[in-house]
Amino acid sequence: MSETPPIRRLSDWGPEPLRDIADEWGTPTYVLDLDRVAANAARLAAAFPAADIAYAVKANTTRPVLERLAAAGVGAECAAAGEVERALAAGFPAERIRYTAVNPPARDLASILETDAATAMTVTVGAEDTLDRLVERGFEGRLCVRVNPGVGAGHHEKVSTGAEPKFGVPYERATAVCERARAVGDLVGVHAHVGSGISGDDLTAHRELVRRMGDLARTVGDLEFVAVGGGFGVPYHENESPLDLSAVARATRDALGDVDAQLAIEPGRYFVADAGVLLTTVNTVKPTPETTVIGVDAGMTTLARPALYDAYHAVRSLEPDRPPKPTTHVDITGPVCETADVLGRDRQLPEPTRGDLLAVGNAGAYGYEMASNYNSRPRPAVVVLEGDTDSRLAVRRETLADVTRLEEP
Ligand code: LLP
Repeated sequence: MSETPPIRRLSDWGPEPLRDIADEWGTPTYVLDLDRVAANAARLAAAFPAADIAYAVKANTTRPVLERLAAAGVGAECAAAGEVERALAAGFPAERIRYTAVNPPARDLASILETDAATAMTVTVGAEDTLDRLVERGFEGRLCVRVNPGVGAGHHEKVSTGAEPKFGVPYERATAVCERARAVGDLVGVHAHVGSGISGDDLTAHRELVRRMGDLARTVGDLEFVAVGGGFGVPYHENESPLDLSAVARATRDALGDVDAQLAIEPGRYFVADAGVLLTTVNTVKPTPETTVIGVDAGMTTLARPALYDAYHAVRSLEPDRPPKPTTHVDITGPVCETADVLGRDRQLPEPTRGDLLAVGNAGAYGYEMASNYNSRPRPAVVVLEGDTDSRLAVRRETLADVTRLEEP
């Protein structure tokens, strides 16, 4: 096992480099620590030494993150043509890319099949008629069939995938669809994904999914891999225990049983969540009869997870604590004119003052990636850290001109 701790908590980030970044680039700004991304990759590789490990790039497509993971030798799981393009540009070899087509728009299929990479990458189909659409376009390459395993798990109903009929072909149809896929191209794998947020409690669902996939692989036979998805959880709460990766690896191996194919996993969040923080500045302090409301310059357009999934993200003040200030209860709210625009409720922070710099933890996964321009709000900047203090801009902050640039005159 690698030496790095299984979780980097918000309290483990040194405040000075983050304050320097905020001074240089302003806020709101995402900070991504590339060394931590690499350490997470190493920990996964150590826990799953025999597995084919791919990064679900939807969690964070920032170019330096993709480059670092491509250099670390992991593959890429891509959900859309745009992600495939970015993975290729960042150096993932085509043969390590799996394109998981979910109701793929015609434009996605066209752009993927046009590239030279199309014959080397693997296309995962989750509906029989996606095979028809590939045949119509003359595809005869590497195919994987996504199966709906009938079991789901996740940190929120909106990210539980395994039992949702939208994803994968029904388990009972899987063998027949695999046979069809064999007639179309080169069937190399079967795939399922339980959902997002496998934790100690959810291992039962994961184990059941893997068991069903092992059975399927034995029935179908002659496969290169059995992909059992991602969904490895990270502790968002300060006192939550980290995932026991070796327990997950053991459960996975046991549940898969004897299969003459390589195990494939494709976590997204686990690689990047704790490698990122979001920096934001307090702009309003408002005492109310219920609580103190603090307004910050990041909101649901910067980090959508609290509004979308009621997700919890730790928040910490980065102001020097000398002399120590008393703490107080606050609601941390964004600048968007929506009730859902709350980053955190009923949090304890040192008595806030306008201009205070705050950090939001575990923001490396599905943070910048899900940012939007709602309320005509420019998306934030992204800065990457390498080594202890080496930082550089990876994505510049949008301007209002960027927000309106697609409008016809
Ligand atoms: N593989 C497939 C086929 C997936 O659909 C996903 C995520 C993953 C792998 C990676 O899952 P992860 O290891 O990152 O949990 N925006 C939500 C998460 C949605 C994930 C969708 N699919 C969030 O912020 O929690």
